[in-house]
Amino acid sequence: MPRPPWPARSGERADERSSVNDLLARFQETWAELAPVGRRQDGGYDRFAWSDADLELRAWFRRQAAERGLAVEQDRNGNLWAWWGHDPGEGLPPVGALAVGSHLDSVPGGGAYDGPLGVVAAFLALDVLRARGGARGTPVAIVDFTEEEGARFGVACLGSRLSVAAVDPERARGLTDSTGTSLADAMRAAGADPEMLGDDRVRLSRLAAFVELHVEQGRHLGDVGAPVGVASEIWPHGRWRFRFEGEANHAGTARLVDRKDPMLAFAAAVVKARESAAFHLGLATFGRATVQPNATNAVAASVEAWLDARAPVEGDLEAIVDAVRAEAAAAARLQGVTVAISEESRTPAVTFDPSLRARVGGALDGTAPEMATGAGHDAGILAAVVPTAMLFVRNPSGVSHGPGEHASDEDCVAGVRDLARVLGLLLS
Ligand code: GLV
Ligand code: MN
Ligand code: MN
Repeated sequence: MPRPPWPARSGERADERSSVNDLLARFQETWAELAPVGRRQDGGYDRFAWSDADLELRAWFRRQAAERGLAVEQDRNGNLWAWWGHDPGEGLPPVGALAVGSHLDSVPGGGAYDGPLGVVAAFLALDVLRARGGARGTPVAIVDFTEEEGARFGVACLGSRLSVAAVDPERARGLTDSTGTSLADAMRAAGADPEMLGDDRVRLSRLAAFVELHVEQGRHLGDVGAPVGVASEIWPHGRWRFRFEGEANHAGTARLVDRKDPMLAFAAAVVKARESAAFHLGLATFGRATVQPNATNAVAASVEAWLDARAPVEGDLEAIVDAVRAEAAAAARLQGVTVAISEESRTPAVTFDPSLRARVGGALDGTAPEMATGAGHDAGILAAVVPTAMLFVRNPSGVSHGPGEHASDEDCVAGVRDLARVLGLLLS
């Protein structure tokens, strides 16, 4: 048998080591099933909430659960829960249950791993636990949170935010995608009831912990040579919509002095985002914009664009966004256009539960490095009501939200095994 590339953990038995190749084969088989769903020509993925691809992924989730004899329920916010040791038909789970999982949706042209790796790892980690004779009566749920990326309806982690009552359900029902379809209509078309959306903290309060495994979205683990890391905190972050309005005009005849060109004000805001993020040691990105009428030979009438900003501390995040707002307003005045700015979502800094983190670190023999991240996660949203923890799996390129996102099969299996160890410890 080839020597496993992942670190040995204390107390590991020879028979567990020999089952690793088996786990690798099962990971590869499961991953191959997911690979075609929502894949684009360029290798990226479009897996938007309540789209056909998402419905296919939900069907895959139900099949995985059925193969393991797990009962599945869709909660009031569209999140899927596959239960081991609990029958959702009998009501809420008992106090002390554990949950593990992530999300299956993607950003436009996203990578294969952001989200699905955490769900696949959760199913396989449960297999490992059960093979070992596992959980002594504590129910375990595998969860798929809906619209984590906010790629379709604009609000990131929408399923978990609704559940912790951080989003008004009326506002959520009215959110629209780029074609004008509302969340309510998209849910109805998929057979879900949008009138049910809302506060689900009673369910969440039954959980002793939620653990999310995720592909790393940077290169830290590659740099330190570790296959798996533990999250310490999530930077505060948010999204702001900028709407610049000017006047459409002829690109070949309108004199420069007569133009009201919203593109110029937008461009100034883009440059300021970069400058102020660099100054405050944060990150700020305009990665999405829509232009009307979007004609090569016309001055634009309007530009709508979204700023994504993140920083290690709230004050720096505030300073970055204030600087971009001020620049957008000044540039708009200069160009004779208007700008309206609204906050679409805002997530405060999250420090993962220190005692759960210590237990997770202990389960991994203290060998997994701790790391902060600028990326948002359902585990960060749930942290408001449930102790949560996260594991990261090495991504050598550091690329995420694009086709370059990658983790080796061996590292993914190292993640599965570590997730099983964490669950095993939490269940003991
Ligand atoms: C989710 O991946 C986010 O951080 O935007
Ligand atoms: Mn993501
Ligand atoms: Mn994610």
